[in-house]
Amino acid sequence: MEMDPDKDKDKDRSRMSASSPAPAASYAERDRRYVWHPFTQMAHFEPLVITEAEGAYLIAEDGRRYLDGVSSLWANVHGHRRPELDRAVSAQLGRLAHSTLLGLSHPPSIELAEQLVGLAPPGLAHVFYSDSGSTAVEVALKMAFQYHQAPLPGAAGPATAASPAEAPRPPTRHRFLALTDAYHGDTLGAVSVGGIDLFHKLFSPLLFHTLRTAPTLAALEAAFVAHGHELCAFVVEPLIQGAAGMLVQPAGFLARARELCDEHGVLLIADEVATGFGRTGTLFACEQEGVSPDFLCLAKGLTGGYLPLAATLTTEAVYARFLGPRAAQRAFFHGHTYTGNPLACAAALASLEIFAREKTVQQLPDKIAVLTRLLAEQLGGHRHVRQLRQRGLMVGIELGATPDRSYPAELLVGAQVCERVRDYGVILRPLGDVLVLMPPLCISAAELATLVHATRRAVDEVCAGLAAQAATAPGPVAAAPPPAAAAPVRR
Ligand SMILES: Cc1ncc(COP(=O)(O)O)c(C=O)c1O
Repeated sequence: MEMDPDKDKDKDRSRMSASSPAPAASYAERDRRYVWHPFTQMAHFEPLVITEAEGAYLIAEDGRRYLDGVSSLWANVHGHRRPELDRAVSAQLGRLAHSTLLGLSHPPSIELAEQLVGLAPPGLAHVFYSDSGSTAVEVALKMAFQYHQAPLPGAAGPATAASPAEAPRPPTRHRFLALTDAYHGDTLGAVSVGGIDLFHKLFSPLLFHTLRTAPTLAALEAAFVAHGHELCAFVVEPLIQGAAGMLVQPAGFLARARELCDEHGVLLIADEVATGFGRTGTLFACEQEGVSPDFLCLAKGLTGGYLPLAATLTTEAVYARFLGPRAAQRAFFHGHTYTGNPLACAAALASLEIFAREKTVQQLPDKIAVLTRLLAEQLGGHRHVRQLRQRGLMVGIELGATPDRSYPAELLVGAQVCERVRDYGVILRPLGDVLVLMPPLCISAAELATLVHATRRAVDEVCAGLAAQAATAPGPVAAAPPPAAAAPVRR
C-alpha cells in the first residue's frame, strides 16, 4: 500500500501542537522514522536514546546509566554537565550567541586564540577557526597548498591596478603525503588524504591523488627520497592512528618526520583532532617527541566535548605568506558561517581553565597506569585478543578467533561485543573487530575498572557464543545475525 507522506506530516504536526496530548510514538520510533544516522546501516538500527548525562555517564530515556567509554565520539574531556562549562556557556548566552568572524570579531575567539597559541608547541602563532575535525584538516590542506603557490611577499613586486592579482606559481609542490589507513575526516579534501578503503574507495573519482607511506621509519624515509621535491605537506596523526584501529607509531617516527619535512621543504600537518587535549598523556601528542608542526589541527576535545569548534594553528612563516595588499588576493578565501562561534569558544576557554586549575594532564599518568594494569590483567593473553594497543587513554583491543587469526568480517564481532557491553552499563563503539576504549579524562580508577571488567565480560560471552556455534555449525565459524546497532567500522 502506498503511503501518503503529506497525510503523515499532518498527523505528526497535530500530535505536536500545544493543545494535543504527548506524542504517542516513543523517541526511538520517531528517530527511526526521521533521523538518518552517520556511519550507520539504517536498515538494522535500533536507537538508544540518551536524554541526560552526568560526569562520565550517559543516561538513557528509560533511566539506565551507561559509562561513556568512548567520550561521546572521543570528544568529552572533563565529564558531562560540568558546572563550570555549563556556567560559561550560559554566561556567554547572556552576552552573544553568535556573530561572524568574517569581518568582525568577538572576545571569546580572541581570548581562546591567545590561550591556544600559549599552550601549543612553540612556533605556532596564529589560529584559524572552523567547526569540525574535518574542516580543521581541510583548512590546513588548503593553507599548505596556497603557501607553496604564493610567491614570497615582495617577490612579485607591488600589485598594480593593471595586474591586480599575483599569478599563482606553477604547482610544483601540489602533492600530499599521508599514512596508509589514515583517517582525517569525511569532507572530500580530508577523505583524499584518508586511506580507509571502506569509507573512501567509492568516492575515489572525486578525490585528489595522495601519496602514501606506511607508518615505519624506513617507508617514511623512502617516500621523502622519492617524492620530497613534489610534496606540499605531510599529514599525520601524531603517535597513534585512531580510526585506523588505534595503530601506535614507532618511537621517533614523528620527530623523524619533522626532520625530513625540513630537509625537503615540506610542511608538516599534525592532525591532533583525536589525540589533542590529553588523550595520549600530554596536552598535545606532538609534545612527546618535541615536535612543532607547521599546522596543528584541533577539534573534538577543544570545547571539552561540549560544542562543535575546530582550530587550525599555524606558524608566523605560513601566516606571512598570506599577507599583502588587498589587490594581490593573497587572503585565505575560506570560512564557515559558525566559524569561531562565541558559545563554543566560551566552552573551550572554560575547559582550558579546568585543565589549568585541576592539573588534568598531571593526573593522567596515574590513570593511564591503572588502565594499563587493568587491561593486562583482564585482557592480556586472552585467547580472543590478537593485540592490545594503548597510548595514554586511547586503547584498541583487536579481537580474533585465535590470537593469530581474525574473525570473518561478516560476523561483525566488534559490533556484537559493543552491543553486549551495554548490558553491563557501558557504551563502546568498534572499529571493525577492534574495540576502542577512550574514556573521558575525568574517569576515576573505579570507573576504569568498571569499563575494563564490562568489556572483558562482553568479549568472553560473545566469543564463547561464537565458539559454541562454530562447534555445531558445518562452516569454520557460523555467521550470527548482525547486531541491531551494527556499524561495521569506526569512531
Ligand atoms: C584524527 C582525526 N581527524 C579528523 C577527524 C574528523 O573529525 P570530525 O568528525 O569532527 O569531522 C577525526 C574524527 O574521528 C579524527 O579522528
